Amino acid sequence: MPSTALCETHLSNREPITRGKVRDIYDLGDRLVIVATDRISAFDWVNPVGIPDKGKILTQMSVFWFERMKDTVRNHLISADLADFPRDFQAHPDQCAGRSMLVEKCEMFPVEFVIRGYLAGSGWKEYQHSGTVCGQKLPEGLVEASKLEEPIFTPATKATDGHDINISPERAGQMIGNSLMEAASGAAKRVYLRAREIAGAKGIILCDTKFEFGALNGELVLADEILTPDSSRFWPADQYVPGRSQPSFDKQFVRDWLETTGWDKNSPPPPLPDDIVAKTREKYVGAYRQLTGNEDF
Ligand SMILES: Nc1ncnc2c1ncn2[C@@H]1O[C@H](COP(=O)(O)OP(=O)(O)OP(=O)(O)O)[C@@H](O)[C@H]1O
Ligand SMILES: [Mg+2]
Repeated sequence: MPSTALCETHLSNREPITRGKVRDIYDLGDRLVIVATDRISAFDWVNPVGIPDKGKILTQMSVFWFERMKDTVRNHLISADLADFPRDFQAHPDQCAGRSMLVEKCEMFPVEFVIRGYLAGSGWKEYQHSGTVCGQKLPEGLVEASKLEEPIFTPATKATDGHDINISPERAGQMIGNSLMEAASGAAKRVYLRAREIAGAKGIILCDTKFEFGALNGELVLADEILTPDSSRFWPADQYVPGRSQPSFDKQFVRDWLETTGWDKNSPPPPLPDDIVAKTREKYVGAYRQLTGNEDF
């Protein structure tokens, strides 16, 4: 395993306009360079320790999906080839190569477009309580990890403290306009269904996923990362058994470890130990290889 994670980029001639939880973002005017670092967040806290190569894996996976989804909906990706980037980025291949996307800068919607095809996580918790997921009534008799007849759209919005708050589709329509909301949720469902087929053929179940959309001159654009283990739940199909929680390729593993530490989730998290870092990295690498069929990233 490469011993070092890249947790922050530092380029000679540029400062990022912002560092998100995972990405460092550079503003080029009408375009952005989004560099995925190896930072990992869980329970809305970035861990002081990164996962080597995670940013490359997330970027290469997003590129894989953008390529396959470009006929379904317009997306923001211009290039992930460093040769197409401004020189300042080309001068730092150690920090930028393989983990950066040159994208069209969009007016982002303040809504997360979550599509759920299976019953898991907070959705399963709510269903047990009220027979609903984000207020939407579901048939009786479902169990944990049941496949839903139709995927459902359960939008969320970000509170200032970073926690997601579920909202109704109607509320999402009020926030961004009904026609854009309908267009984006329709596109999100189509992309989810196509992706589910592609992943299914590789032995991966795409349980649920979150998309971010924006607008460019009034046109809908799919942005951010798509269909990665950070934005989705992936389950290995050969171990799928409804009625229990599923093993997964995502950072559930990290969450589980954090839960064992007694951390209060209201203060900086304990650093991940080496063995947890190594196992987490293996999960990301495994998901990437199984899905794309590529060895390298
Ligand atoms: N094409 C785009 N145009 C403008 N902003 C974008 C585009 N694609 C992604 N973004 C934004 O870039 C950021 C990506 O950074 P990252 O994923 O690290 O942030 P995050 O932790 O998810 O969110 P936060 O913004 O709350 O820190 C997100 O705020 C996302 O909305
Ligand atoms: Mg993000």
